[in-house]
Amino acid sequence: MPAPDSQDVISRCRELAAISEITDGACRTFLSTAMKCCYALVGEWMKTAGLTVSVDSAGNLRGARSGADPGKRVLLMGSHLDTVRNAGAFDGVLGVMIAIALAEISAQSRLPFDLEIIGFSEEEGVRFGIPFIGSRALVGLLDEQALQRTDSAGISVAQAIDDFGLDPLEIPNAARKTPPLGFLEFHIEQGPVLDVADESVGIVEAIAGQSRASVRFLGSANHAGTTPMHRRRDALAAAAQWIGVVEHLACATPGLVATNGKIDSQPNVGNVIAGDATVSLDVRHADDSLRQRAYEDLHHAASEIAAKRRLELVWTELLSQKAVRMSDKLAAALDSCTAKTGITARRMVSGAGHDAMILAPHIPSAMLFLRSPGGISHHPAESVRPEDVEIALQIGRNFLDLMSTAYYNLESTP
Ligand code: HGY
Ligand code: MN
Ligand code: MN
Repeated sequence: MPAPDSQDVISRCRELAAISEITDGACRTFLSTAMKCCYALVGEWMKTAGLTVSVDSAGNLRGARSGADPGKRVLLMGSHLDTVRNAGAFDGVLGVMIAIALAEISAQSRLPFDLEIIGFSEEEGVRFGIPFIGSRALVGLLDEQALQRTDSAGISVAQAIDDFGLDPLEIPNAARKTPPLGFLEFHIEQGPVLDVADESVGIVEAIAGQSRASVRFLGSANHAGTTPMHRRRDALAAAAQWIGVVEHLACATPGLVATNGKIDSQPNVGNVIAGDATVSLDVRHADDSLRQRAYEDLHHAASEIAAKRRLELVWTELLSQKAVRMSDKLAAALDSCTAKTGITARRMVSGAGHDAMILAPHIPSAMLFLRSPGGISHHPAESVRPEDVEIALQIGRNFLDLMSTAYYNLESTP
């Protein structure tokens, strides 16, 4: 059977997009039933690629194959299999499908190093509000506090792991023991840069840092018709005022993006003043000190608005993830692998977070971006071009060849 080509990669991504826990779009969250169906299908593709399939105790789907020099060094490739709500078909999944295709393409070439393809279990953070559960476990950073986070049904991460038939006590074993040669993640850019420049691929130099928080305004519900304006403690009005401050600060600060993507207002009835409003906050910048300052300014603004309106503010930090540089060595390797296809790929900073940002401080990591047509992502209209996937597969082939040559030199150097 011929190895998968770009059309196979794209059709597999689209096939997986239909495996969803919602009826009106694509959505797969941490260790859900939809994820179990996804693993069954991806596991079959991994087996066809000659990989031995397993699921680790953090729910990562892993396909492994020994190299000609087994057990010494391993090259990791992969991305995440979970999605946001109403997702596109390619965010995360494309990186896993390209990696599986490369495993199949290289099956006959007896790579010297072991190969492991990872489908991370939770990168987006939709179910529990905290992202990177799978990749944190791989580098031994999934702590007890994370395991005790609960979802909207009150189920903890540890319980979800147990419900999936895995053992949360085994989490420490999900961490890799031998230092990998590196980690390579293919991913859509999710932004407009490559599309506007009409370029197929880009090499990620760094990933912007991000802070996430849950911001709750607590006032008192009351009758919409009988309560005079000066007597109100309106939580939703306070949240709305603060959301305006968030957008104003981001527009006024170069390089800063800030988003209030989720709001929950109670009792959420048209003729009742909201007594309780919770807003999500997502703040990102390539410079950590600027991101931190913006985050603190927005916390201060929320406190001021709450105080003026005689409300209580409950501020819960969910993530403070520093900006991370990719491996210069592996980025240079990607440069030469890309040049071999006749392309000079630009260097880029990723505004989106990726599992590579969790691995990079521990494992030499590299990312190759593929163009996002229209700059659209986290949306059903998310897409990729077959010709860009074909180029990415060729760059991947070149990368495996280069790592093999380097490996033998590595091994031959005293
Ligand atoms: O939100 C992000 O940065 C990524 O898509 N998880
Ligand atoms: Mn995403
Ligand atoms: Mn992603």
